[in-house]
Amino acid sequence: MDQNSELDVRKAVRERYAKLATSVDSSCGDDGCCGGSQLISIGESIPAEAASINAGCGSPLLLISPKEGDTVLDLGSGGGIDVFRASQLVGESGRAIGVDATPEMISRARETAEKHGEKYQNVEFRLGEIENLPVQSDSIDYVISNCVINLSPNKRRVFEEVFRVLKPNGILAVADITVDKEIPDSARTNMDSWSACIAGAISTAQYRDLLTSAGFSDVELETLQDSSVRENSDSHKYAFKTFSSHIKARKPLSRPVL
Ligand SMILES: C[S@@+](CC[C@H](N)C(=O)[O-])C[C@H]1O[C@@H](n2cnc3c(N)ncnc32)[C@H](O)[C@@H]1O
Repeated sequence: MDQNSELDVRKAVRERYAKLATSVDSSCGDDGCCGGSQLISIGESIPAEAASINAGCGSPLLLISPKEGDTVLDLGSGGGIDVFRASQLVGESGRAIGVDATPEMISRARETAEKHGEKYQNVEFRLGEIENLPVQSDSIDYVISNCVINLSPNKRRVFEEVFRVLKPNGILAVADITVDKEIPDSARTNMDSWSACIAGAISTAQYRDLLTSAGFSDVELETLQDSSVRENSDSHKYAFKTFSSHIKARKPLSRPVL
């Protein structure tokens, strides 16, 4: 994708999520981003303010078992729903960090954290792009992400960054929208469709390729059975189906010698 198109994507995404962050009714509506969010249930109580702005498409925390003292990083944390969940799993000695590129989302998540300050001392929200993470190398036990990576115009760079910040043996756990076949670049030009988690989605095979080239091992992919399935034919009459998927991968203890 050329630089101008990349900027167009980032602008469209920021505008859509700024609107969601500042709206009174923050439910996701018909957005593709919300497919499968009903699957989320890991039992933790979280602030109502964060639950009311849930725009995820699965449950990355169900794929992992963070323990007391671990550090969890959430890519595209939105209103903070998964960060608040993770904060309870890692306890007072652990940390839960959210990164998001939309200032309004970061403000909203920080307001929620401040309001419930006592309970969420270990939570932090940082403004930044997932392609240039404001996070130290080799410092994170688990990277999670819920319906965000499809929105990135440079997914290769996202996986390189995740690899950089994870500790050796650290795990990436993702819920994301995937498509049943590769979409040609010419069908990815509708910015509304991109920011709604459709036009930027990749197939699970592409996910595996990108993760493997970034150095990850033990890649696991699962298309969720009860996800919503749509036919999309608006972009250049190219039809494809979207699913919610879970993806998990590990940063090896040492990089394989090629
Ligand atoms: C569909 S929402 C999901 C929010 C949250 N993960 C949830 O489950 O409710 C996508 C979020 O990702 C953020 N985002 C999209 N692209 C991003 C990027 N390249 N870097 C950082 N954040 C991004 C948006 O600002 C938005 O808050």
